[in-house]
Amino acid sequence: MTTAASTAGFNPASLAEAAASVEAYLNDFLDQRPLPRSLREGTKYALLGGGKRLRPALVIRCCQAAGGRPDQAMPPAAAIELNHTVSLVHDDLPAMDNDDLRRGRPTLHRHAGEAMAILAGDLMNTIAFELIATRVTNPGLASALVRELAAATDDMIAGQVWDTLGGFDETMPPLQRLQTIHRHKTAALIRCACRMGALCGGANTAQLTALSAYGDAIGLMFQVVDDLLDVTQTTAQLGKTAGKDANQGKLTYPALVGLEATRTEIDHLRNNSHEALNALERAGGHRASVAELRGLCDYMAKRSN
Ligand code: IPE
Ligand code: IPE
Ligand code: MG
Ligand code: MG
Ligand code: MG
Repeated sequence: MTTAASTAGFNPASLAEAAASVEAYLNDFLDQRPLPRSLREGTKYALLGGGKRLRPALVIRCCQAAGGRPDQAMPPAAAIELNHTVSLVHDDLPAMDNDDLRRGRPTLHRHAGEAMAILAGDLMNTIAFELIATRVTNPGLASALVRELAAATDDMIAGQVWDTLGGFDETMPPLQRLQTIHRHKTAALIRCACRMGALCGGANTAQLTALSAYGDAIGLMFQVVDDLLDVTQTTAQLGKTAGKDANQGKLTYPALVGLEATRTEIDHLRNNSHEALNALERAGGHRASVAELRGLCDYMAKRSN
């Protein structure tokens, strides 16, 4: 039996607000770089054409939850959206999921060709780190953020390798394979968003531990919901091709455990996220921001795209 998630107290406009500030920041940063026009256009097409901006919102809110200001979180918030967008652009390539639609529009390789999709991805990956290195003025913090983002991006790539090419030991049970893929390809960057926000806000050890646990839980939950939506939503609702996972024989929660157990797992992970936030509150996390993070998690559990 699943329970309905409460999103009381969460205003989706706060997500839109974080999205708008990060988009403006990214747009300015790209405009300041000397780039071939086609590369600037291709990059902006992928990066600024829609998207929920969950990861930047998490960086900003986790920074505030640890007692920091939103402006302190902007460089890593923008950087993680860059690396997330690389993961989408490359995930859609013919050699990977071979998708035609992303964020409600033709994928970058359909719009501007495969070479541009590969090269814009290379650029976004590089400038993500440049952005942190040049815009975070505290050298110790900049170095810590670079290490966090590099490790999480490596994990995302490992997850994409297992998802696309397999390679697990044959004795590994399917549920363990599935969780390993999902924790790497998706949860790692989401957890990283939470940790980078915590570091920017000057979190103490207990707060960093709590926000990491929150990121682990909401990160895995996010991919379980993504698996569910692939089965339950239409292409028009998703802005990307529905039914793709089954067509490609992907290892997903609905395919492995069925719809009801998938929904139960989402509830379970939502509860784990809430428990982590309770620990954050006990560790002195900023109350209103903790409430925002709770609402954001519930909103992501119930999302329809
Ligand atoms: C899609 O991520 C890929 C996954 C990791 C599940 P999002 O659902 O966050 O995609 P956008 O950024 O909103 O387009
Ligand atoms: C998401 O996997 C993982 C990354 C993009 C890193 P999916 O292949 O399920 O993502 P969508 O459904 O195409 O957005
Ligand atoms: Mg994929
Ligand atoms: Mg895909
Ligand atoms: Mg998917």
